[in-house]
Amino acid sequence: MKPSVVLYKSLPDDLRQRLDQHFSVTEISGLTPENIAKYADVLQSAEGILGSGGKVDGEFLAKAPKLRAASTVSVGYDNFDVDALNQRGVVLMHTPTVLTETVADTMMALVLASARRVVDVAERVKAGEWQSSVGPDWFGIDVHHKKLGILGMGRIGLALAQRAHFGFSMPILYNARKHHEEAEQRFDAQYCDLDTLLKESDFLCISLPLTEQTHHLIGREQLAKMKPSAILINAGRGPVVDEQALIAALKDGTIYAAGLDVFEQEPLPASSPLLKLPNVVALPHIGSATHETRYGMAKDAVDNLIAALTGKVEKNCVNPQLLK
Ligand code: GLV
Ligand code: GLV
Repeated sequence: MKPSVVLYKSLPDDLRQRLDQHFSVTEISGLTPENIAKYADVLQSAEGILGSGGKVDGEFLAKAPKLRAASTVSVGYDNFDVDALNQRGVVLMHTPTVLTETVADTMMALVLASARRVVDVAERVKAGEWQSSVGPDWFGIDVHHKKLGILGMGRIGLALAQRAHFGFSMPILYNARKHHEEAEQRFDAQYCDLDTLLKESDFLCISLPLTEQTHHLIGREQLAKMKPSAILINAGRGPVVDEQALIAALKDGTIYAAGLDVFEQEPLPASSPLLKLPNVVALPHIGSATHETRYGMAKDAVDNLIAALTGKVEKNCVNPQLLK
């Protein structure tokens, strides 16, 4: 009998077929509390789960006593309680490599859009406001040769540094848990402490996962250290930035602008003050959302689950100590 798997994200047909070849698959629309209650029987016998979003903690695991592997279609896994998974011996797989270049492209798009006010002025053109040659109220600030600060030098930070260094002649500063030799050698990136990063960066680009240590790492105190001409870019996880503090800083000119792909609450509520600020570019968490990359992530997630449930894991495992 094939192992039973719960799929909570729809897959392209060919990948769904591949999953069906290996497993007995039940597809549900999401790992919502309603679905978890409705599909209690299926979860009782599930050995694997695959999807994105939802919350996988001790309470969920108690409802899935046979679970051996979870495969998330994302690099981030802050919605998983890894300690609880470890206690239960559940292997967690993610997609850390396939999306790197695409997310770095998104970050560069946010850098350019917020500095040059691309969205703001394009909307004004569409509204018919371009009626004579444009004056300073249409101008933005330069990107090239400005200092790009990277908070969190992982794969994505490295790919951003490459773009900024070669494409835009930007000096790179970074802060991370440890020195990144490749970034220093290939892109002249300079390691500095967080305070220096805040004070010196023209663009503060956040590419950190959400953990207890990074939650609200950037708040009022940190924003106050930034230049009034600085732009904050966040494409990691929303709660790394204290959103209320950011809104205040954008309103009172503590910083110049923000380019955001992630928010404390997603989808961003229509009532969010961020949506009323002309110096905010807000994207709907599309860091990895291209046809090519989303296909690649889904494919990796399927391969990851097959590897995890057949004991052939070689990569993409969050808790590889369980495999020993
Ligand atoms: C997207 O945010 C991801 O974690 O892949
Ligand atoms: C992870 O967050 C990375 O930067 O690769």
